[in-house]
Amino acid sequence: MNTLEAIRTRRSIRRFKSDPLPEDVLKEILTAATLAPSGKNKQPWRFVVVRADKRPELIAVMRAGLAARKAEGVPLGSSEWTTKVMEQAPVTLLIFNIAEEDPFGRKDFGDVFGNMVDVQSIGAAIQNLLLAAQELGVGSLWICDIFYAYGEVCTWLNERHQLIAAVSLGYADEAPLPRPRKALDEVVRWL
Ligand SMILES: Cc1cc2nc3c(=O)[nH]c(=O)nc-3n(C[C@H](O)[C@H](O)[C@H](O)COP(=O)(O)O)c2cc1C
Repeated sequence: MNTLEAIRTRRSIRRFKSDPLPEDVLKEILTAATLAPSGKNKQPWRFVVVRADKRPELIAVMRAGLAARKAEGVPLGSSEWTTKVMEQAPVTLLIFNIAEEDPFGRKDFGDVFGNMVDVQSIGAAIQNLLLAAQELGVGSLWICDIFYAYGEVCTWLNERHQLIAAVSLGYADEAPLPRPRKALDEVVRWL
């Protein structure tokens, strides 16, 4: 599969088979993530791999976060559904930015532009990861609903760095049609 084919055929997967992901496949996907470009080659990404044994803990932490947000009156959006997807996925990666401390006041957040650089670098790593997964026949879901349980996840992992995203991985049990995209002339301004 060439790169453009991987880009064109990748879909967000929200139904996974229970088959585990072999460790060598997971390592290849993680290696692809680390080959992404990064500002000043800082490689600010860190990945926490949550597999079957620890999945119940992750889901309990997510649900505790969702319950706390609900009690605070925060609308939960798609987060309950996303948690159900994470519950099915054989692997979920939690992805942190080590270059900045967490933004909720536990330490200085550093300068905004520096953070933008590092977050872009991590976005590139995540996209590499998704495309490598696609080439290897592995389905993926990029998840930011994890933010509903931001503090709970960081406390669970005793992690002081900035939580950026989660990615669930596994063999797809669905084949979604392409989701709509805006036309080029809606998103590109030619000079
Ligand atoms: C930064 C980011 C955060 C996302 N967070 C979630 C999420 O929390 N839950 C979810 O189901 N999908 C999430 N998605 C997946 C998007 O909904 C999906 O990419 C979009 O609808 C387009 O569909 P496609 O990926 O199949 O092309 C996220 C995607 C990105 C890039």
